[in-house]
Amino acid sequence: MSQQLCDARKYEIEHEKTIKSTDRPCFHLSSRVGWMNDPNGFSYYNGQYHMFYQYHPYNAAWGPMHWGHAVSNDLLSWEYKPVALAPDELYDAFGCFSGTAMEDKDGNHLIIYTGVVSRKQADGSNKEYQQQCIAIGDGENYSKYESNPVISTSQIPEGFSVLDFRDPKIWKGTDGEYRCIIGARDKDDRGQILLYKSKDGFHWQYVNVFVGNDGYFGKMWECPDFFLLDGKAVVIVSPQEMLPEGFEYRNGNNTICIIGDYEESTDTFIPQAYHTVDYGIDFYAPETTESPDGRRIMIGWMQNWDNSSGHDIHEPYFGQMSLPRELKIVGNRLYQLPVSELKERRKDFVEYKDVLLSDDAGEIVLKDIEGRTVDMEVEIFPDDNENMYDMFTISMAKNDTFHTDFIFRPKESIVEISRKYSESRRATVHQRRAEISNKEGVLKARFILDRYSVEIFLEDGRQVMSTTIPTDIDAKGICFNVVGKVKMNVSKYELVENALL
Ligand code: FRU
Repeated sequence: MSQQLCDARKYEIEHEKTIKSTDRPCFHLSSRVGWMNDPNGFSYYNGQYHMFYQYHPYNAAWGPMHWGHAVSNDLLSWEYKPVALAPDELYDAFGCFSGTAMEDKDGNHLIIYTGVVSRKQADGSNKEYQQQCIAIGDGENYSKYESNPVISTSQIPEGFSVLDFRDPKIWKGTDGEYRCIIGARDKDDRGQILLYKSKDGFHWQYVNVFVGNDGYFGKMWECPDFFLLDGKAVVIVSPQEMLPEGFEYRNGNNTICIIGDYEESTDTFIPQAYHTVDYGIDFYAPETTESPDGRRIMIGWMQNWDNSSGHDIHEPYFGQMSLPRELKIVGNRLYQLPVSELKERRKDFVEYKDVLLSDDAGEIVLKDIEGRTVDMEVEIFPDDNENMYDMFTISMAKNDTFHTDFIFRPKESIVEISRKYSESRRATVHQRRAEISNKEGVLKARFILDRYSVEIFLEDGRQVMSTTIPTDIDAKGICFNVVGKVKMNVSKYELVENALL
């Protein structure tokens, strides 16, 4: 084992002791110590889910990238494993960037990741070159392949950047060949996805531009994912430097979903529909895997690059993943719902039916509807169809000073998440809006709170909004407000740390 890996393994064991379990999310994976970004190597191997992540253990800021590691039986309770990869080779000395994992034909856990190396240029500056590398392991210890990199800069097609060529996603086709897609940037600064193929996982040939982009969707495409689901082929990718379009997409780093058809014999993907994956503030670079019972599950980094540097780097940890989400394709749209395993965490059911809310009544608080580890479903209907209400608001994580709000304006079909009053002291993004298809003032939404986050699943998962919140954990209030009149059904469970037996 290299000195870097040994040091990192020692460091995380010593320093994780300073973090109380109650300072972490209850059922979302967070960084063992120090900094976390993208999920990596999300896979089911040897009877457990494995999740690796972009990791800088030594402080809560991005730094030379390692791969942190955790395993889980139910996607909600995670057990940390020793850091899996450290930037300890000439070809990855600048960092072991994102990648994916799968079981190989010999039953080993095969990781493919981007090795980054910094090279001095003639003018004295440094540039970081990106190449794809392999590590093979048993679910705990991983050895880097002696002939790394397996896809070097010399295999990048003409006209593509050698500095933006990263985040391989590997899978095996029905013809038994390995395939791998990689995020890339062409000479006109347009994000693209390149496809490579291999018979053994070690020797790769370039095939084609798997998904192109005329420049509309950002400048560099990070962390591509690909899978077949419900008769469609789906590409999920995270473009950098996007421009917004109405309520779709937004400025900066985004994650988009491209639904289309795929022909394996020619390796062609034909895009048909594009849309935003998460309409909230914090969600990026997701990876998917298939559960043993055939569900497609997605987990993203619950953060946003533009907001992720305002904290104190001496905090013991920074970064958490989103809830694992079960995916479906309905009418060329990606639907997402919390994994069904979350139901095992529910206790203390409370339900209210046909609650009448009106502006005369002011703010409504319902007994036992409160908390910071919550699974709550809310359905609202106009009380009078002739007289549509103007606005409906739920405030969560609330005390006398702070709250995070979900707002619905039925006349415009706009929903909004706002963490402006969530105790944030930074001038970063605090609000996001989305247009929903609903026009009748009827809305169904499921809210999952896990201490420092809120994830909202609208209309059975047709749209999702996720945000982290810094609010003190004692702010547990939930209250309802309306301008006009609505009828509301609310059901709520408390969510517990460990599954109830
Ligand atoms: C996405 C990303 C990846 C890269 C990694 C580096 O968030 O920029 O493209 O591999 O983070 O940490």
